Amino acid sequence: MGDVAQRIAEMLLRTEAIQVYKEKPFVFVSGRISPVYIDCRKILSFPDERDYIVTQLAKKAETDVGLGNIDVVAGGETAGIPYASFVSHLDTVLHGGKFDGTMGVIAALEAVRTLKEHKIVLQCPVEVVCFVGEESSRFGYSTLGSSLIAGEIHGKDLAHAVDAQGTKLEDVLANMGIYRNNLRSMRRDPSTIKAYLELHIEQGPILEAKKRPIGVVTSIAAPTRFKVVFTGQADHSGTTPMEMRRDALVAAAELTVAVEKVCRRYSHMKKGRVVGTVGTLQIEPGVINAIPGRAELAVDIRSITAEAKQRVVRLVKAHIREIARRRKIRVEILPLREEDPVPLDKRLIRLLKECCEARNIAYEIMPSGAGHDAMQMAKVTPAGMLFIPSRLGISHSPLEWSEPEDICLGAQLLLDSIVRVANEAI
Ligand code: GLV
Ligand code: MN
Ligand code: MN
Repeated sequence: MGDVAQRIAEMLLRTEAIQVYKEKPFVFVSGRISPVYIDCRKILSFPDERDYIVTQLAKKAETDVGLGNIDVVAGGETAGIPYASFVSHLDTVLHGGKFDGTMGVIAALEAVRTLKEHKIVLQCPVEVVCFVGEESSRFGYSTLGSSLIAGEIHGKDLAHAVDAQGTKLEDVLANMGIYRNNLRSMRRDPSTIKAYLELHIEQGPILEAKKRPIGVVTSIAAPTRFKVVFTGQADHSGTTPMEMRRDALVAAAELTVAVEKVCRRYSHMKKGRVVGTVGTLQIEPGVINAIPGRAELAVDIRSITAEAKQRVVRLVKAHIREIARRRKIRVEILPLREEDPVPLDKRLIRLLKECCEARNIAYEIMPSGAGHDAMQMAKVTPAGMLFIPSRLGISHSPLEWSEPEDICLGAQLLLDSIVRVANEAI
């Protein structure tokens, strides 16, 4: 890829836009999928930030940007021939880093630019797509854009997806003409995509520890997510005797510790490893001199093994009911997302390994603990993923970092693999 190292380093490490917006979620989506996503992009995203970064990327990558979407095609467009897609996302978690998602997008743009510069002719068109809302920043609902495309948003999951201002995801979608009864019609026709490849940072410690520059991903852990609302009794903090209190926050605190305890029992690194997190907590009334009467928290439990995850989910729910009973507090469990772990395509895993071997690059075969758009796209097309190391395994933090040499290696392998995917039978 010639001077790719310098170009990617410049784009990723010095692009002002990414630094400026790293503290806010920004999202957009490809217009290639369907016009509905163009509207979706406007409503589900934060337009100024998005437009700014799109413009920056367009300038730097010299790609075509239509309607504010990055949608780059190389190798010619031919009606009826499926596209090979490289995809990632540009939205971030609040206070996140600038490598999660963005690195894959920039590397994909760089790969496409390289294809164009070298006038490489492919057997099928190649597209770069950026999905809307991969992170759960606004609605607690991850991989929103790719889930719509994969036909994987289910009505029952929508009911409790609400943003910090109280806006319901369901209402936002309804404003765009997407209702429970036509959700499936948003699914992209699988015959239009030949395969899907995503380059991403590992977001964990394994590659660094094993000193391997590349991970070939075998499967993606999927979350079970739910909100828990404890309703006790708000009361005076000075006059209410300790034994008469129905403190919703203490119930939430007990639950948080229970999630940790149960998951630690199942957190061995082999098959069956389960992780669990309480990532949000809101209390009311939230003043220093009142006992909290209401506490709402969100639980995220993940594993590569569906059975292990289900066992942990059952145990955690049993704890929730026991805490509520003992403390005489009302409790509601509101489901957000229930997904199964996703195996990636075996032929693509082999192809990615061969690409590493062809360049003598050491790789690790590994599952992904983080969620990715690939887990949705795997439901409509063969999907494969490559990882590069994350320094200290840190992600979803401003400390997120990957070395430019590793990014370049990843981009090179992405390019190698997309050429093979475009030119060979998959
Ligand atoms: C996405 O980054 C996720 O795994 O939550
Ligand atoms: Mn992320
Ligand atoms: Mn990501």
